[in-house]
Formats: sequence, structure tokens, C-alpha cells
Amino acid sequence: MRLSLRFIVPLGLALAAIAYAVVPLVDRLTLQWFVRDLEIRAATIANAAQEPLATLVREPRAKSKVSGYLNRLVTDERIFAIGFCDPAGKLAYATATFPPALACPRSEGERRGRLEQLAEGPLHVSANPIAADGEVLGDLVIVHDMSFVQRRSDDTKKYVVWLFAAIAAVVALITVIIAEISWRGWVAGIKRIISGEALLGTRESLKVTAPELRPIARDLQALVRDLEAERHARDESQVTWGPETLRGVLRDDLKGDEVLIVSNREPYIHVRRKDKVIEIQRPASGLVTALEPVMRACSGTWIAHGAGSADRDTVDERDHVMVPPEKPAYRIRRVWLSKEEEQGYYYGFANEGLWPLCHIAHTRPVFRAQDWEHYKAVNRRFADVVVGEARTEDPIILVQDYHFALLPRMVREQLPRATIIAFWHIPWPNPEAFGILPWREEVLEGMLGSSILGFHTQFHCNNFFDTVDRFLEARVDRETFTISHGGDPTEVRRYPISIEWPPAALATQPPVAECRRALRERLGLPADAVLGVGVDRLDYTKGILERFMAVERLLEVEPRWVGKFSFVQAAAPSRSSIDEYQNLDARVRALAERINGRFGFAGYQPIVLRIEHHDAAQVYEMYRAAEFCCVSSLHDGMNLVAKEFVAARDDLQGVLILSQFTGAARELVEALAVNPYDIEQSAAAMHLALTMPPAEQRARMRSMRGLVQDFNVYRWAGRMLLDAARMRNRRRVLSRARAARREAGAA
Ligand code: F6P
Repeated sequence: MRLSLRFIVPLGLALAAIAYAVVPLVDRLTLQWFVRDLEIRAATIANAAQEPLATLVREPRAKSKVSGYLNRLVTDERIFAIGFCDPAGKLAYATATFPPALACPRSEGERRGRLEQLAEGPLHVSANPIAADGEVLGDLVIVHDMSFVQRRSDDTKKYVVWLFAAIAAVVALITVIIAEISWRGWVAGIKRIISGEALLGTRESLKVTAPELRPIARDLQALVRDLEAERHARDESQVTWGPETLRGVLRDDLKGDEVLIVSNREPYIHVRRKDKVIEIQRPASGLVTALEPVMRACSGTWIAHGAGSADRDTVDERDHVMVPPEKPAYRIRRVWLSKEEEQGYYYGFANEGLWPLCHIAHTRPVFRAQDWEHYKAVNRRFADVVVGEARTEDPIILVQDYHFALLPRMVREQLPRATIIAFWHIPWPNPEAFGILPWREEVLEGMLGSSILGFHTQFHCNNFFDTVDRFLEARVDRETFTISHGGDPTEVRRYPISIEWPPAALATQPPVAECRRALRERLGLPADAVLGVGVDRLDYTKGILERFMAVERLLEVEPRWVGKFSFVQAAAPSRSSIDEYQNLDARVRALAERINGRFGFAGYQPIVLRIEHHDAAQVYEMYRAAEFCCVSSLHDGMNLVAKEFVAARDDLQGVLILSQFTGAARELVEALAVNPYDIEQSAAAMHLALTMPPAEQRARMRSMRGLVQDFNVYRWAGRMLLDAARMRNRRRVLSRARAARREAGAA
């Protein structure tokens, strides 16, 4: 009612004001019409009276005849009086009612009709000449009673007021009905916005909103996004991310929800040595380096392939083992694969197919139908294990890497309410490159079962958008970074991975001087030897051959380093049953040998090649002992060696030479960036690194360390988990709103 009054009162007032202004106008108009009417009437009477009056006036005893004639004329109800003025302007004849106050007209102006307000009331007076044979005999003065005009005017005013009142009533009624209908629509729309349905950030969600409210919903979407971004930015900029912060996110934002990780590689491998003793190995894996500290902070379950020779001997009856061994914090759930399965899924499809497909390192991918079948079967097996391990219907599942492209969709089918965050640790190629995969649609569809899909760089996200756009019937929204392909949309985001800060391995490291001394002694190098280091899996994407060629070129163009400078390469054997890797192994060894043959001499080797597993302590000692670290990947999603080297140098010395084709190069801009294919440039960078003044090293290193410290792996995981929390929260709001609507509908 109040809403209706808001429309009716101003409407009524406006119409009253209009009526107030219109009534005098109408009054004046009707008066004018009447006056004109009377003038015509008077002229008509005068014309009619012309002849008889002229005759009568000229007759003898005219007086009684004229008076009689005038008295007859005056019987017309509207005529109040009639008089006849002689040419001298004297009233010669008049009816008894002729007002004494009226005088005969003396001028043309006075002959024209005029209004007079006399004691007898309002009167209209007009004079018309009476003539005969060209002689003017006098003026016939006709006086009309105007009191009827007053009555008519009063009536008109009344009608006008009633008319306006009626218009006001009809308009008010229509307005109230339309306002009421619109109001209900708006209220429903606003309720929908508030409930979150229109704030989902998708075009579909906007469509459910009334058209008038879409701008509001759009603004609110933008506001929510800004607030979220601001909140995240605040979280990320104001908080120093560490294990405790991550635990806080799990506790406060995710309300302690269950977290499951799935990866091919397990973080702890139990291996039986030749002497039958079981030892624990930590694999050389960027993925494990990044996720292990996260898992220690989050607890939960890590599902992985049990590949160690003693893995089966160390699990319980449910294939679980608690880790880390020194302080158990989470559990590994091992999944067993047969030799054929491992061959087809891991070596075959993942590492001879997807790996070279996604890395632009000019190694041709191999796709075998049998490998694909194994890949599908193993993904299915892992998906079933995930579902079996889940204690709730909506766990948070972190799916790692290209080994499990199909798993998100498979899990989604069984746990529709799960929050699935898939992270692709390697680059994503452009659509042309990806398009050669015979099962490209299945792979993309599998990945789009995720709630969130992460890549290291925006470039890889954009490549993914382009690829989906090219090969699937999907809605790709680059404004909200979402892809909808049946079911819930997938958010595609950039999450640059990192390492823990401070790195655990650094805690047990002796001072830099001691590391320098110990490494040189262990490698049989002179105490004053100048060192460069490389730490990699033995993989053709890492640019190890190009790096060695750069060392060779350095020694050619700067012979002063011969005998003084050595490059130490730690290479962890990797995927060694694949031909390409065996070839690489042979070529790396041969090249090192050739260069050593060319520049080496007794007691000096320019390249110190160690193809073996190194534990974290050994790797950190190498980082700390070297003048520079060279990361020359031909293509790399991120490359955590670059970040580890920076983290290891708490003395603020040492130079990082970094391939521009790594994700890390986008963050560590103070490194010496190189194109690893440009051997001259890499050799020049090595020389520059060896001659860089300590002050410049310090400035560059300080800046890079600040970045790695701030953007550590806890922040990487935290950002994904916060995004998952936001998503889960939205879903809860929506399902509450839907339930409320259902209830309201039922009532
Ligand atoms: O770079 C991709 C990746 O999966 C990393 O996450 C990991 O460091 C590496 O490959 C390990 O490879 P693999 O498990 O085959 O030894």
C-alpha cells in the first residue's frame, strides 16, 4: 500500500495542479465563445429587424409601434433589453428593462460588443446601425443577459474537475497495477541476486535475472569479483605464507574439509637395497618438491603409484603408509600397476606421447592405441581409488599433472559434489601442436571434469582456451576465465608453482664457505676452482647438451677459464626405459667426454658429469658452492631448480642463468635470461656470471629471494584452496537459496 501511495499521491497532486491551471483557462475560453455567439446573435437580430424597424421609425405615431416591436423582440429569454438610439445619440425607444445606466454608443468602438457589470447583473451590450435608402436612422442597442454564462461557467468548472478526478483515478489504478507487477518481478530478481544465483559470473546466470536488473547483477558480479580479488590480494600481500597459514585456510575457509592428492609419483619410495635393507628415497620431482610440504601442512591422503621395490612391504592392509617417516603427518595410499600397465600408461602414453606433445623440444610424440587403452584403464583405477578413499561426498581433490587428464571427469561422475582442482605441471601447447593427438577430444573432456584447472602461466591458460575453442563444442568465457562443457563450468587459472620457504634442506646446510670447500674436495677440484652447476632430471627438455656446448664455447672464446672453471652437472636418471632417454644419456656422456678431451688435462675436467640420484642435502650443497647455476631448459612449465638455487643462496651471492622458455623466467627477471638454442649467448652469459661484481650479484639475488619467499609453495596451494573455498561457498549459498525457493513453492 505504501508503494501504491508513493505513486498515487504525486500523481494526484500533479493532476490537481494541472486542473487548477486549466479551469480559469476553460472559463476564459467558454466566455469568449459565448460573447462571440452573442455578437453573432445580436447582428442576426439587428439584420432581421432592419426593414421592419426602418419602416416603423419613419411612420407617424412611431413611438407606440416601435416600442411594441421592441417589446416583442425582447421576449427572447436571453435578451435582457433593447433600445433604439437616434442619430443624435439619444435613446429614442427602449424596453422597460433597459438599464438606465447604459448610454447610446458614440463611436465605432462603443458599437462593438462589450461586457458590462451593472446593478442588473452581467450584461452584454452591442449596437447595430439601422438604415434605409442610404440614410442612417439610428442604432439598435441589444442587451443580452450574461448571467447564464456564469451558470454555464460554474458547470464547466465542475465538469473539468470531475474529468480530472476520473483521469487521476484511472491512471492511478493502471500505475498501481503495473508497479505492483514490476515490483514483484524486481523483488524476485533481487532475491535471486542476493541468493547468489545471478552472481555466479556466467552469462547463463545473468539470463535468469529480470532484464531491468541485469545491469545491477552485472555490477554486483564485478563487485564480488573485485572484493574476492581484493581479499585474495590482501591475503596474499599481507600474509607471509607458511604451513600455518595454509592450515588456517583449511581450518577457517574450508572448515576442515577432506583433502586428497592424486599424482603418479609418490613422495616417499621404499626401495630394497642389495643388502636387503629397506631405504627411503625422495624422487627428483618438481611436483613432489612442491606438494610434499603442502601435504605435511594439510594432512589428508596422497594417492600415488607404488613404484618402489619395497613399497608393498611397507603398507598396511589398506595399502596405506604414514609419512614422513621421521614425523608422520599424512598418509600415502599406494596404487599397484602391472608392468604392462606402467609401460602403456606411464612410459607410453604419458611420457612418449603427452610429454613431447606439450614440450616444444622437437622430439616427436609417439601415440599407440594400446598405450591409450592402458592410460584410460589406469585413470579409471585411480579414479575408483579416489572415490574409495573419500570419506565425504564433497572432498577437495588435487589432481596432479598429465598422467591423469581423464581422471577429473571420471571422479566427477561418481562424486558430483567434489571440488576437483587439476594442475598441469608442464606447458600447454598451441592448438596446432595439440591437434595431432588422436584422442584430443577425450583428453580435453576429461580435464574439463575439474572445477579448477591450473597452469603455471597465463600463456598456457590462453593456449588451453584456444585449444578447447578449436576442438570442443564448449563455451569459452575469457572474461571470467571459465569453460562450460556440459555440467558445471571449469575455472582455468594461472597458479605459478614454487618451493617451500625457507627450504627444509637449507636448515642443515653448513655455511657457504664450508659448502664450497667440501664440494671441491669431494669432486677432487682445487680449492680455488670456479664452478657452475646444473641440476636436472636427465631429460631432453632440460637443454643439457646445449648447456655443455655453451661451456665449450666459453672455453673457446675466453681461454682464461681453461683450468680454472668447471661445470658440475648433477643428472638424475629418469624414464630410462624409453629410447629417447637412453639416447640422451649416451649423447650427454659423449659430449662431456669430448669437451673434457678437448680442454681437460690431468687433474682438470671442464665438465664434471654425475648421472645419479642426489639427495636434497647434496643438491643444496652444490647450489651454495657454485658461482652460478645454469637452467637451460628448451621448454619448461616452471622449473623449480631455478627457485631452489635462489633459496639456497642466503649469502646473496651467485648468479642464475635462466632459459627464457621456462615459466620461472617470467618471475625471476633479475636472472641472466638466455635462449638455450643460442650457444654464443649462453656462453656470454656464463662469462658475465663469472665476472659479475659481488654488489650486482647481491642486488639481483636479494630481489629474486624476496620474490621466492613471498610467492612460495604455500601461497601457490593456498590460492588454489581459497579459490576452491570460494567456489564451495557459492555452491552452498545457491543450494540454500534453491531449498528456500522449493520450500516457498511448497507453501
Ligand atoms: O615436470 C613434470 C613432472 O611431472 C614434474 O612434476 C616432475 O618433476 C617430473 O615431471 C617427474 O617426472 P617423473 O615422475 O616421470 O620422474
